[in-house]
Amino acid sequence: MPAVLEIEGLRKTYKSRRRGTRNALDGFDMRVDAGQVHGFLGPNGSGKTTTLRTLLGLIRPDGGRMVLLGHEVPDALPAVAGQVGAIVESPQFFPHFTARDTLSLLAGAGEVPATRVDEVLELVGLRDRSGERVKTYSLGMKQRLAVASALLKNPKLLILDEPANGLDPGGIREMRTLMRNLAESGMTVVLSSHILGEIQLICDSVTIISLGRRVAFGPVDEVLAQHSSGAVRIRLEAVSDLPVATDVLTQAGIRVTGHPDHLMLAGVDKPASVTRLLAEKNLYVSELAPIAVDLESVFLELTATAPVPGQHRQVDESMKVGGTAQPGPAGGGWGA
Ligand SMILES: Nc1ncnc2c1ncn2[C@@H]1O[C@H](COP(=O)(O)OP(=O)(O)OP(=O)(O)O)[C@@H](O)[C@H]1O
Ligand SMILES: [Mg+2]
Repeated sequence: MPAVLEIEGLRKTYKSRRRGTRNALDGFDMRVDAGQVHGFLGPNGSGKTTTLRTLLGLIRPDGGRMVLLGHEVPDALPAVAGQVGAIVESPQFFPHFTARDTLSLLAGAGEVPATRVDEVLELVGLRDRSGERVKTYSLGMKQRLAVASALLKNPKLLILDEPANGLDPGGIREMRTLMRNLAESGMTVVLSSHILGEIQLICDSVTIISLGRRVAFGPVDEVLAQHSSGAVRIRLEAVSDLPVATDVLTQAGIRVTGHPDHLMLAGVDKPASVTRLLAEKNLYVSELAPIAVDLESVFLELTATAPVPGQHRQVDESMKVGGTAQPGPAGGGWGA
């Protein structure tokens, strides 16, 4: 399958007088094949938006190579811009315009036939409300309008930064169906998200980024299979013993993710060794269960920062299913 998007060794350093330098992207790689729905996952601040903005020519990289639809970018952006639709963080619309006026304006500017406006309104489920002013729209409706604007030119590649942000469960399900339908019609879709359950349901493949580097990639089932062996959940007789148990197991080379009432372990060869290690420290296991991992646990394991000795690391709730991203800088919409 040909690659629609290829990134090799991408670097971006933000410099500010006050905060010094920060390596937002530190040799980042990514590849997306044609016709896929590809999930781009990473914790807050890991470099997702920086990657997408750099790809779209909105930020100048400090190094690396990027290819979009077979063309090196940013140099060849004018040649590919017409085939790429993108929404990077919240795009701004004129609040006094209706959705239909907004899309008609963008269609006119992008030499898109006016009939396409109705098609995209229908696709995103906004047709019935298209005559209302954008300022009266809910967050989820604005999100749909943003997706509609990115679809106007019927792009080969659709890039969406946090498309499910602000959508209710029904809206998320509709967005999932829309993404799948678009992929079936031959469009390649790249979406960043924190809603890992959704990503697992809708994506064919994923890239996981942490601290500006790729830490996992490939078809979702392969990424899950690579991390499923030796995954174990344990509970102890005393919840207050979990921090000490975390230290004991970490020192034995087992990867541990802390939760309020249990620990998730990865890379356990023999479950009996876990009970023995803990019993030697007078810590008693009340439950030990091998588990089939989901994308959320792989994500948490791969993107967790190294535990500080003596500290019990808790799962960051903002990264869990249904967590929301922090609002970012004003977005650069590539509507039409
Ligand atoms: N304009 C900027 N100036 C300085 N630092 C920046 C700027 N934009 C982003 N950064 C920093 O670069 C890093 C990556 O940020 P980025 O917005 O790409 O993360 P993200 O993965 O999109 O996060 P989120 O999930 O919160 O949207 C962060 O440490 C962030 O603080
Ligand atoms: Mg972001």
